[in-house]
Amino acid sequence: MLLPLPLPASAERLPGHAVLGPDPVLHADEAALPAASLLADYLSDVFGTAPSISTTNGQIRLRIAPLPHAPGNPEAYSLEVSETRVELVGAAPAGLLHAVQALRQLLPPELLGPRERGVGDVALPRLPCVRILDAPRLGWRGLLLDVARNFTPVPGVLRLLDLMALHRLNVLQLHLTDDQGWRLESRTYPRLTEVGGCRPAAPANPTDPRDRATGPVQEGWYTRDEIRTIVEYAARRGITVVPEIDVPGHVQAALAAYPHLGNDPDAQPPLGVWTRWGINTRLLNAQPSTIEFFTDVLDEVIELFPAPYVHIGGDECPPDEWHASAAARSRARELGLDDPAQLQSWIMSRLANHLSARGRRPIGWDEITASPIPQDTVVMSWHEREIAEDAAERGFDVVLAPAQQTYFDLHQAAEGEPRGQRGVLTLAESYAFDPFAGRFGRDLAHRLLGAQCQLWTEYIPTRQHLDYMAFPRVAAFAERAWGSQDDYPGFAERLKPHLERLSALGVAYREPTPTDLEPGRREVPTPAEVPTTVG
Ligand code: ACM
Repeated sequence: MLLPLPLPASAERLPGHAVLGPDPVLHADEAALPAASLLADYLSDVFGTAPSISTTNGQIRLRIAPLPHAPGNPEAYSLEVSETRVELVGAAPAGLLHAVQALRQLLPPELLGPRERGVGDVALPRLPCVRILDAPRLGWRGLLLDVARNFTPVPGVLRLLDLMALHRLNVLQLHLTDDQGWRLESRTYPRLTEVGGCRPAAPANPTDPRDRATGPVQEGWYTRDEIRTIVEYAARRGITVVPEIDVPGHVQAALAAYPHLGNDPDAQPPLGVWTRWGINTRLLNAQPSTIEFFTDVLDEVIELFPAPYVHIGGDECPPDEWHASAAARSRARELGLDDPAQLQSWIMSRLANHLSARGRRPIGWDEITASPIPQDTVVMSWHEREIAEDAAERGFDVVLAPAQQTYFDLHQAAEGEPRGQRGVLTLAESYAFDPFAGRFGRDLAHRLLGAQCQLWTEYIPTRQHLDYMAFPRVAAFAERAWGSQDDYPGFAERLKPHLERLSALGVAYREPTPTDLEPGRREVPTPAEVPTTVG
């Protein structure tokens, strides 16, 4: 039986098939019109022309209504296909959009992509009759795209958003800034992109080729209008875009643009945008003017991104530069701090409080729990689960993003793979990630906001390569984040038509080997393989 992926909570095959068309009409109530218009766009790829939308009748009915199978969950939906009618119901617009994606996945997989001629030239599409009642268990099913290390221009982001929607992922975290690039235009501080958005060509390093951001000049950033385009495109598909401005480490691109933000403003030669990968020791200083600079940046971010959350990084911040700097030591004393390393907490709590005061929830990587942060801060946990559980015990909401299981820049097999981040994360291991394991399935469940997979791009220079690293691991992640029971053999079966869908959409996914799909393929990477310097 052809089933949607992620696997619905309940799907019952009914006898018969429905034939769509030749001119299907979408019948949508007012509140269902946005979802109907998206479905019409998808079906225009199938039929060659967009179906019309009526508010009174039609073969395909879309509506918003309470759904008793998942009370209170706005993402709940039902989808019923009978021989004469197709009915999509969402508990709210977000749920109805999932029904649209589930319906797409009942079509013959080869029909998902754009076609040169309408399907009328072949045969009208047949859908199996089914009754699906579904709802996700987690409200945040995220994907991080690192656009700092290798920049993804707008069309690539829109395409990824479409693929996320297909997998019912609903949060795109854009990692907009890092040592190797600043990718968000600022009205107030134009040099952030004019200087920080342009990484010079780096010579290949024959002695340590892993370490170099090799390749041609890497120039690119999103203008404010382009961000609006991305945010709107995402919203139409039920996806929230969460921006990340990473501080107080991962800031060399900003320091190249505005050296006074750092601890060595007169460095000779002046700092440029970093052309290496790995953990950088350059940090922000803790002067009031630097806090003001970043609160200005965050205010611009708030203006552009309607998301209730703003991520402020806080990861990988070795304090060596503060220890070595007389000015940083003196600033720490002035602030009454015992150790210059505490400047990290001081900076993070200033920025987190600034966001909270403006009605946005700050998010930080799990290092942020060392800082006195507002209670509405979300902890994004990339280390061991115990750290996430500690944060949850302290009353913080948590998004699980463990490196060992959700970093899709890791190799997909021990041998024969293109260059990636150190370590291996097979398809089966991606599927083995269970957000609800341990205490998050029990007493800490109320603190589990969601889960997220990560596409760090140090070793992902092209769209083709991004596809290869992301798919089908994203499909495995999506199933488990949606809430499906652990059933790898069932997933492996469902993956076959799903890969045909991805092919129809032009996705250059990695073809799983027969070994990848064997049941019980669950070896966990040995500690030596687990990445320590990643994002
Ligand atoms: C990270 O991987 N540094 C969040």
